[in-house]
Amino acid sequence: MTVNKKVVNNDFADVMFNRHSVRQFDPNVKITRDELQEMIEQATTAPSACNLQSWHFVVIDTPEAKEKLKKSVLKFNYPQVDTASAIIFVVGDTQSHVVYRDVWQKVYDDHKITKEKLDQIFGTFLPMYENATPEFLQLDATIDGSIVATQLLLLARAHGYDANAFSGVDFKTIISTLELDPKRYIPIMGVAIGKVAEEPLQTTRYDATTQIEFL
Ligand SMILES: Cc1cc2nc3c(=O)[nH]c(=O)nc-3n(C[C@H](O)[C@H](O)[C@H](O)COP(=O)(O)O)c2cc1C
Repeated sequence: MTVNKKVVNNDFADVMFNRHSVRQFDPNVKITRDELQEMIEQATTAPSACNLQSWHFVVIDTPEAKEKLKKSVLKFNYPQVDTASAIIFVVGDTQSHVVYRDVWQKVYDDHKITKEKLDQIFGTFLPMYENATPEFLQLDATIDGSIVATQLLLLARAHGYDANAFSGVDFKTIISTLELDPKRYIPIMGVAIGKVAEEPLQTTRYDATTQIEFL
């Protein structure tokens, strides 16, 4: 896949440090599906454990889909859902290792790694995942999904929008509400994206020195 790397706001400091959780968007702003797809593609440049890319996305961008989604969203998150141009719900895929061989085979076929490296990857990582416990696979997918969701939050700003990450949903029902297989997928978070309508809360952070140890 060749990712289109174009963004409208290429000022990293602005994208990163002026990001705040926006919860009231202009409900009249529509983001095209092409652009949403482009943002997701760009977000998938994220790193992931063993390059498993254990993520999956459900886009909610119509009034009907929003009503469906709200069945599993906690009420305090209705404002974002109601006003966002779109919600990209990020879920983790606990079965991503099933296609793992294909991902690395393609890297080899594209002459990017040697046969020895390919064999080494298959010999080391495949058995680890094929024999993994459900907890291991869920944790792995949670970490990968969280990283890609973070990229989405920043890409929203790079595309001239704002966003809110929300995990205030009913974790028991959200996957079925998204019409996915609950045996395979696990909830990570929704990312509501749109044009800011109400200035977001200015939040603060703990003094980072109180959270740092040097080992
Ligand atoms: C994993 C995660 C879950 C969150 N869930 C919610 C949520 O359910 N509702 C909400 O309004 N904000 C939610 N937030 C946004 C946080 O409240 C927000 O990031 C935090 O207060 C810091 O504010 P800032 O994003 O403006 O810097 C969530 C953020 C993260 C990363």
